[in-house]
Amino acid sequence: MELEDINTVAVLGAGNMGHGIAEVAAMAGYEVALRDIKDEFVQNGYEQIEWSLNKLAEKDQLSQDDADAALERVTPLVDVEEAVGNADVIIEAVPEKMEIKKDVYGEVEEHAPDRAIFATNTSSLSITELADVTERPEQFCGMHFFNPPVRMQLVEVISGAESAEDTLDVIEELAEDFGKTPVRVHKDSPGFIVNRILVPLMNEASWLVSEDETTIAEVDSTTKYDMGLPMGSFELGDQVGNDVSYHVLEYMHEVLGDAYEPAPLLETKVENEELGKKTGKGFYDYEDGNGVDIP
Ligand code: 3HC
Repeated sequence: MELEDINTVAVLGAGNMGHGIAEVAAMAGYEVALRDIKDEFVQNGYEQIEWSLNKLAEKDQLSQDDADAALERVTPLVDVEEAVGNADVIIEAVPEKMEIKKDVYGEVEEHAPDRAIFATNTSSLSITELADVTERPEQFCGMHFFNPPVRMQLVEVISGAESAEDTLDVIEELAEDFGKTPVRVHKDSPGFIVNRILVPLMNEASWLVSEDETTIAEVDSTTKYDMGLPMGSFELGDQVGNDVSYHVLEYMHEVLGDAYEPAPLLETKVENEELGKKTGKGFYDYEDGNGVDIP
């Protein structure tokens, strides 16, 4: 498939990443089918896209006409056959669990056109293992966006053991057409490049706090103001979603060993469903409008 053959993109999963990817694709002029398993999930994703496009228009980063046109190109759907039946590229952004993703690929393979490329937005899981569930491992690769997709420039394009060179090339071109900068990741190892570095950093910060060595505010103050990162480590955890970091670590722990064991503080946040900005509370409280308060 050539870039010119791509008109319709299906995005599976309307959560933080899914709706952000759908927005980016629609802004680039693609017809987008946004699918989730429940109407309320997909409507919520659609409303987030609307909010974000209007925010960009308010700040003159996009004209209101272009924002409206992008939203028009997004169709929220629950029916999987309708969502993928005419898709040229299917980008999957469902929860970071191997079993959930495998189930989705089993279902999607039944309804997707033969020409369609499957691209997973997994943060850490084996591309090769996911591709093996399908009948098209050569038309399968990783396409890993960063949160929030509309603001983050990088996309990791990850090769599975059987990904065809043509598949990787066209997905890189698609990322460029979305206005992003793709980086090819040749080795399909847990967390790829960015999360192999970033998620252990966030976990180490959680270990320090779990062991009473320091506080959340002190860590974030050092990461943000001394190390020069745009957000504090815990602030970033809340942005990414504590469930996402936790699942990435669980997988790294299983495959790579004890150095990646999730910290108790992070585990507690997940157990209490304090998942970050998306639930109104994480390491910081967003509900009362306080948000991040770093000295
Ligand atoms: N759409 C539109 N507007 C948005 C938005 C969105 N999706 N998200 C936030 N905004 C708005 C906010 O509402 C705020 O608006 P306001 O000014 O009216 O209050 C504004 O954008 C904030 O923008 P600023 O210009 O003040 O903020 P910054 O320029 O500091 O940029 C940032 C924000 C780009 C998120 C920056 O803080 C950053 O780069 N943070 C690091 C993010 C990062 O590292 N992400 C990767 C995480 S790893 C990952 O995702 C991988 C996964 O697999 C785990």
